[in-house]
Amino acid sequence: MKIVFIGDIVGSPGREMVERYLPRLKKKYSPDVVIANGENAASGRGITKRIFDDLLRSGVDVVTMGNHTWDQKEIYDFIDETDYLIRPANFSDEAPGKGMTSVTKNGVTLSVINLHGRTFLPPHEDPFAKATALIEEAKEISPLVFVDFHAEATSEKIAMGWHLNGLASAVVGTHTHVQTSDSRILPEGGTAYITDVGMTGPYDEILGMKKEDVIYRFQTNLPVRFEVPKNGRAQLNGVFIEVDDKTGQATHIERIMINDDHPFEM
Ligand SMILES: [Fe+2]
Repeated sequence: MKIVFIGDIVGSPGREMVERYLPRLKKKYSPDVVIANGENAASGRGITKRIFDDLLRSGVDVVTMGNHTWDQKEIYDFIDETDYLIRPANFSDEAPGKGMTSVTKNGVTLSVINLHGRTFLPPHEDPFAKATALIEEAKEISPLVFVDFHAEATSEKIAMGWHLNGLASAVVGTHTHVQTSDSRILPEGGTAYITDVGMTGPYDEILGMKKEDVIYRFQTNLPVRFEVPKNGRAQLNGVFIEVDDKTGQATHIERIMINDDHPFEM
């Protein structure tokens, strides 16, 4: 199975990049499944029904979330109505929605799990224990399991990669919005791993937010409402992963970075 994962889509610049480049990425990689992190898709904060539907229409199969899951209150009204929008599995059991789903393409099933880190982030339930419990469940259906670990600390993400080596087909980090160059297939277990996939949205700003505001906050420590600028250059970050359908082990991981300094090549 071939999988394309798109890193944190930030606001309308991110959504426009998906619309513009996903058809080209599909031509280049022929993915069976496209997964995208959409927790910043609505002006940097959460996701709306309209945006979720647009992402599915653009060719995304599953949308994962993170710390901004509940920022747009309307998510409460539709998260339980779809199988293709998941929130971190280690949120409280009281939370609406679910943390794992599956997609079947060309007779092969892939489970997708979303998890939330606890280092420098709110203390949710143990993502490591949650991951192994869910993977055990997923393996009853198929050996192919994809994990989006939405976390702040590189160490926690690397720990999750090794923790799930041989259990998950892929563990990709999201949330920090800067693509790391450590993509690899972990030895023995065959898990494709990257600490952070990077983000899809404004290119000349700070993690997708207007840079003047972020600099002002760093200088003054005063409250500022961060905004996603509508104009300016944009980027798309992602990864392409290939998984053996029989073993569930990854055979290939490749970083995708599209911006004016790294133009798209077919
Ligand atoms: Fe996040």
